[in-house]
Amino acid sequence: MSNELSHIHRFAPGNRREAAPLLLLHGTGGDENDLLPLGEAIAPGASLLSVRGKVLEHGMPRFFRRLAEGVFDEDDVRRRANELADFVVEARKRYDLAAPIALGYSNGANIAAAMLLLRPEALAGAILLRAMVPLRDAPKVDLAGKPVLIISGQSDPIVPASNSQRLAATLAGAGADVQHRTLPVGHQLSQADLTTATQWLAARQLAALT
Ligand code: MLT
Repeated sequence: MSNELSHIHRFAPGNRREAAPLLLLHGTGGDENDLLPLGEAIAPGASLLSVRGKVLEHGMPRFFRRLAEGVFDEDDVRRRANELADFVVEARKRYDLAAPIALGYSNGANIAAAMLLLRPEALAGAILLRAMVPLRDAPKVDLAGKPVLIISGQSDPIVPASNSQRLAATLAGAGADVQHRTLPVGHQLSQADLTTATQWLAARQLAALT
């Protein structure tokens, strides 16, 4: 764990320079340790930068405030997405990293989606697990060609299908190269998430090399 930069985080250097680093963003109540095993499994050899959200909800770390489940404090979403993008800039300098691909789960996926909309230069792409629309009025943004994988759960009690479809349409409308998969699962992560994300990322990295 490191406190020196603006966010508490862990950095695990990779041994494959050509693999894009991953920015790991946990769900509500998680921390910077949670997604490291998933990141290692999805992107073997990639550098991993794993961050703890700065907001506490009854002691549980999150990346932005919410008013109720699925109802976001959008001023805070904007502020925190910008703060996190600034952290990514700091961390890239500190650790000599290329722009990362975000790998976010639930609240972490939502802040990653907000970063794509507000600070697209901060991310090389994103894997959004159980993501929702983070801002009702999406700003005009150019995401030309940015690779985004959204994995939704068919029986997710937190994210209605219409919401994740709207997120996919918004990002694709801004030019992102969006793949939206829906798995026969709920809000929790499953083995199928890991397999789907691993295959998607491997295909992207191959495409980037050719
Ligand atoms: C959120 O607040 O970002 C979403 O409701 C997901 C969650 O954290 O439960």
